Amino acid sequence: MVQFVLPRNSRVKPGKSHKAPAGAKNVKEFHIYRYDPDEKKNPTLDIFEVDLDEIGPMVLDALLKIKDDIDPTLTFRRSCREGICGSCAMCIDGINTLACLKPIADVKGPVKIYPLPHLEVIKDLVCDLDHLYAQYASIEPWMKTKTPMPKQERLQSPEEREKLDGLWECVLCFCCATSCPSYWWNGHRYLGPSILLQAARWVMDTRDEGQGERLDDLEDPFKLYRCHTILNCVKACPRGLNPAKAIADLKVLMMERIL
Ligand code: SF4
Ligand code: SF4
Ligand code: FES
Repeated sequence: MVQFVLPRNSRVKPGKSHKAPAGAKNVKEFHIYRYDPDEKKNPTLDIFEVDLDEIGPMVLDALLKIKDDIDPTLTFRRSCREGICGSCAMCIDGINTLACLKPIADVKGPVKIYPLPHLEVIKDLVCDLDHLYAQYASIEPWMKTKTPMPKQERLQSPEEREKLDGLWECVLCFCCATSCPSYWWNGHRYLGPSILLQAARWVMDTRDEGQGERLDDLEDPFKLYRCHTILNCVKACPRGLNPAKAIADLKVLMMERIL
């Protein structure tokens, strides 16, 4: 049987331990992946004890408490605190999700926090998203029109608008792409569930007049067809979306135009 072993300089070693202040009554441990490229050392897992009576209910509240009061060098992305910006995506308790939507109470025992898997780590919980954003740009995520601009706006019926439900809500957090085995192995050429759901968002928009060229662009052995319906993406999406269905809908459109 093949055995996979992390390269020596990637193995995570025990890190620092930070005790809760004396008198804290409701203490929870947070085990957090730390990596600083400037130190040229292996990543570590630091342990922080946090008094839950002093913070809000979500994992992001604990991270902010740690950064504010215990270790200001802890590095992570966040912005909206409401599951809207998609920036606080990380792997919590073994599942990719948004830290601001993940209740601490859902995790039994220590809360283990790692960066999103299969991406290069820039620092601590911040991953390099350049490749994913380049793939996003490649699908040209804007409305393409050929007919003259109407006097007021491009209209849709309620039924046409409904076709975008389940697509427009995506916040590009990449929890799905980074939990997709096909994307792990072929991410350089397969677009993965996040970007394909976005591609579907434009293909399904009846106001967009570039459907043909968008589908032409997906006609490629890797970009679309590396989805094997494993469905990890559906389990991972913190917004309850179904990227696998969006991918299947794109495949149906591809078939329909050649039949
Ligand atoms: S259904 Fe497709 S996109 Fe989703 S995890 Fe599986 S292979 Fe990846
Ligand atoms: S489909 Fe869900 S998990 Fe994937 S990028 Fe969009 S919001 Fe994130
Ligand atoms: S901080 Fe914006 S989604 Fe979590």
